Amino acid sequence: MSLEFEVSRTAEGGGRRGRLALPHGVVETPVFMPVGTAATVKAVPQDTLEVLGKDGVGAQIILANTYHLYLRPGHELIRRMGGVHKFMSWTRPMLTDSGGFQVFSLSKLRKITPDGVEFRSHLDGSKHFFSPEHSMAVQIALGADVMMVFDECVEHPATYERTRESMGLTHAWAARSKDYFKAHKAEVPWHEELGGKTQSLFGIVQGGMYADLRRESAERLVEMDLPGYAIGGLAVGEPREVTREMIARTLEWLPKDKPRYVMGVGYPDEIEEYARMGVDMMDCVLPTRAGRHGLVFVRVDGVPVRLNIKKLEFAEDKGPIDPTCGCMVCSRYSRGYLRHLFASGEALAGTLLSVHNLAFYLDTMARVRAGLAG
Ligand code: GUN
Ligand code: ZN
Repeated sequence: MSLEFEVSRTAEGGGRRGRLALPHGVVETPVFMPVGTAATVKAVPQDTLEVLGKDGVGAQIILANTYHLYLRPGHELIRRMGGVHKFMSWTRPMLTDSGGFQVFSLSKLRKITPDGVEFRSHLDGSKHFFSPEHSMAVQIALGADVMMVFDECVEHPATYERTRESMGLTHAWAARSKDYFKAHKAEVPWHEELGGKTQSLFGIVQGGMYADLRRESAERLVEMDLPGYAIGGLAVGEPREVTREMIARTLEWLPKDKPRYVMGVGYPDEIEEYARMGVDMMDCVLPTRAGRHGLVFVRVDGVPVRLNIKKLEFAEDKGPIDPTCGCMVCSRYSRGYLRHLFASGEALAGTLLSVHNLAFYLDTMARVRAGLAG
């Protein structure tokens, strides 16, 4: 077995406390996964990621992107470097997204056929082709513990018919992803080193904002008997109540004994809410992206709010970003100093704010886990 998932307790609202064992280690769920798009959680060194948060546990698992690493430096180079873990010196679990979502959101001049997607690189305009088989080949070369099927994330809003057709393509692509992986499992860079362990392939439920399509998508993917399931196609511009509704409905149709992952959400109150509904894994660029733009999350009377550290009102503020945080940034630096770093365009500014925001997210999840432990 290359993935074991055990739920130790399920609370009234559906939230579960679990343990996910992967080839590179154990992950306590529900978990937030910092995004390391290009084999780096932007501006944050690996040794810092390993100790973030009140409990000092740090990031248990991080995410990387197939689309970016395929374009630069190339998956074959990463394979020659021993896989993405060795390449970036990260010893804990990792997950790679399939490139499905990034091809649709970043690349130019896409041409979608049943076979795959032809696109131009957002870096240099060069032409490329991604199919489910190609995405799997790249993800196997990268060697993350968890890989995602190649999918299409339909734009929002999209008509019922368009969403249904796109979903059909995603299901056909999931089956092809599974077949390719089955035939090439042993090619992961660490196969021998880790005693014959292999990666795990998760399915992605699509179906836009249509509950009946979501149900059909979940059922189709559950038939494929994959070791975990993601809910994709959310946080694409729909109102938050719709996101919540789609997650709540889709969770009903996914197996209770497998990990359930909501892709690309959200604000701190959202990740808390979805974890309490029974989502086991989430990822989002928000803590790091906001940090690099001078935005920090703080709790006011327990409620998360966002502050803009660049504001003049913080220029002579001797206090920490968040007096209740206690992270390595809050225990050392003042708002006034951090505002100065930003105003001066200093690289340290993005690092320190990203570190605080990540600690904030990890602490939020640790608190939810403690509440679910019973
Ligand atoms: N990241 C956020 N949403 C999605 C999605 O629908 N599909 C994939 N592959 N990645 C995502
Ligand atoms: Zn802090």
